[in-house]
Amino acid sequence: MIETRIIPANGTNVAIHQTGSGPPAMLVHGFPLDHRMWTDVLRSDLAKQRTLYAIDLRGHGHSPWAGDEAHDMEVFASDLAAVTRTLADEPLDLVGLSMGGYVAMVMAEAYPELLRSVTLADCRAGTDVPAAKEARLASIETVATKGRHELALQMLTKLVAEDCSATVRARLQTMIEGTPIETIIADQRGMLARKDRNAALAKLSVPALVVVGSLDLLSPPEEAESMAQKIPDSELQIIEGAGHMTPMERPAQFCDLLGNFWKR
Ligand code: MLT
Repeated sequence: MIETRIIPANGTNVAIHQTGSGPPAMLVHGFPLDHRMWTDVLRSDLAKQRTLYAIDLRGHGHSPWAGDEAHDMEVFASDLAAVTRTLADEPLDLVGLSMGGYVAMVMAEAYPELLRSVTLADCRAGTDVPAAKEARLASIETVATKGRHELALQMLTKLVAEDCSATVRARLQTMIEGTPIETIIADQRGMLARKDRNAALAKLSVPALVVVGSLDLLSPPEEAESMAQKIPDSELQIIEGAGHMTPMERPAQFCDLLGNFWKR
């Protein structure tokens, strides 16, 4: 069973969805999604190996938008640190996908004592190149003028591989269309302002798993390779045929990789 808890953090309420037993692990979703992107992982055998927590970052899923004009990655990480301290008495295995990976890298830099390991899925350590910044500004414009349906249709062309099932596409569309517009804009502003984490990766003091879909258009395998090379204790895994949403597109393979990494 998946249980939902609301935990006060930094003056707002943060929803956590919990299942399983054993040492704690935390799953952090991407943009502009919520804990439901981890449904297959929460329902997998990993729940026999770990107490799995999937967070809804502020403004996402069951966590209300707190009035922020921008969601800086440091704010998300500070919420995550507060929630982690409430939930667990021991360091946890942190897993972040894309925007969740940006948050995980801040956690690793600012709160290393809270982590036992880090998994960075389909993300990148550098800042946006000028064209990516333009694309973010254009997507703010799209969502403000044409709405979330249009944004979802545009994003779906890049989020998953061409052969991805209609069900996974529909699940993504439902999440994107259900995320408040204020949150979508604040996330984009936060990601526009995010800092380069390459130097932080070189100082990472816990084991890291870097996972990427071979067909990821948003954070291609070269990015993952370069991240893994910088991290002192790292393992790189490429999931053939998957796009950006590896835990949804190839859940069994993703869970196997994570389970084996955690057993190390
Ligand atoms: C995500 O999946 O979280 C986004 O692709 C992150 C981004 O826009 O950089």
